[in-house]
Amino acid sequence: MKKITVVGAGNVGATVAQRIAEKEFANEVVLVDVVDGIPQGKGLDMFESAPVEGFDSKVLGTTNYDATAGSDIVVITAGIARKPGMSRDDLQKTNADIVKSCTEQAVAKSPNAIIVVVSNPLDVMTYVAYKVSGFERHRVIGMAGVLDSARFRSFIALELNVSVEDVSAFVLGGHGDSMVPLPRYSTVAGIPLPDLMNKETIDRLVKRTRDGGIEIVNYLKTGSAYYAPSSSAVQMIEAIAKDKKRILPCATWLTGEYGQKDVVAGVPIKLGRKGMEQIIQIKLMPDEQAALDKSAADVKANIAKLGI
Ligand code: NAI
Ligand code: 2OP
Repeated sequence: MKKITVVGAGNVGATVAQRIAEKEFANEVVLVDVVDGIPQGKGLDMFESAPVEGFDSKVLGTTNYDATAGSDIVVITAGIARKPGMSRDDLQKTNADIVKSCTEQAVAKSPNAIIVVVSNPLDVMTYVAYKVSGFERHRVIGMAGVLDSARFRSFIALELNVSVEDVSAFVLGGHGDSMVPLPRYSTVAGIPLPDLMNKETIDRLVKRTRDGGIEIVNYLKTGSAYYAPSSSAVQMIEAIAKDKKRILPCATWLTGEYGQKDVVAGVPIKLGRKGMEQIIQIKLMPDEQAALDKSAADVKANIAKLGI
């Protein structure tokens, strides 16, 4: 890929930029922020690690969108992060204004880009970027399901004392307190989770997954998680950059799939060079469908508050 822009040079954005550069997913990585000096300093520092780490991606930090022109992917991580006691939804108003402004400026310079949204509340911010960009829905995708699934996978691997590599998991719905982990579709070397642990244990791991974001916030106190979130965003970026056609749970605008319409929610999609290339539809059990309905309804109610 020629160029990937990361908007927001905070914890998540800077770590995303670092991972993309180290993995050489683009010739150029542009890091943008509003705070003058931060993106320039972090970008230059990252670039100076290139000879030691052995990568040839150029990293440039800036407060000006001119350098982002012609980006293939724009990752939006700008916004404020959660503090203890704050829900993701508390962030909504401030971050909607920020994501709107970043999207407008980014798409003016990169009209053919694919946008990957990370800012919270994720599903609502993905909606903001979708609406404001005017892009087709396959070019605006939100990151949350990969992170929530990664947390579920980590907890399953810890519980069973097995390699994380052998664990796959699916978490659907909104990235909020009503996210929908699907134990039936979560497996260890192909063996469904309910065959490996009892319901009580599954429920405990599901709860820890749901509370995964706040668990880190409570430790850090001054910010939220960024190592696993940046890895998760970068997995999506890799799928797009290399046209891998990975099947990953991502947030996308739904037009009737899974019984949901006019809302963004996390569902399994095929992710490739064109962005969201297909929504994979699986038949849910009535309780799973009800949980997804509730999660989507929560997102819809928050979208309604925006007035966009
Ligand atoms: P952070 O506070 O470290 O960084 C945010 C950066 O955005 C700051 O550098 C700030 O100056 C910048 N910013 C603010 N307004 C801007 C604007 N108009 N244009 C450009 N940059 C602007 O926060 P962190 O930890 O990097 O988190 C970023 C966002 O990602 C938060 O909203 C957080 O809740 C969300 N997040 C979402 C996850 C997900 O699963 N979707 C996981 C982790 C974080
Ligand atoms: C997380 O889940 C804050 O949404 C972010 O860590």
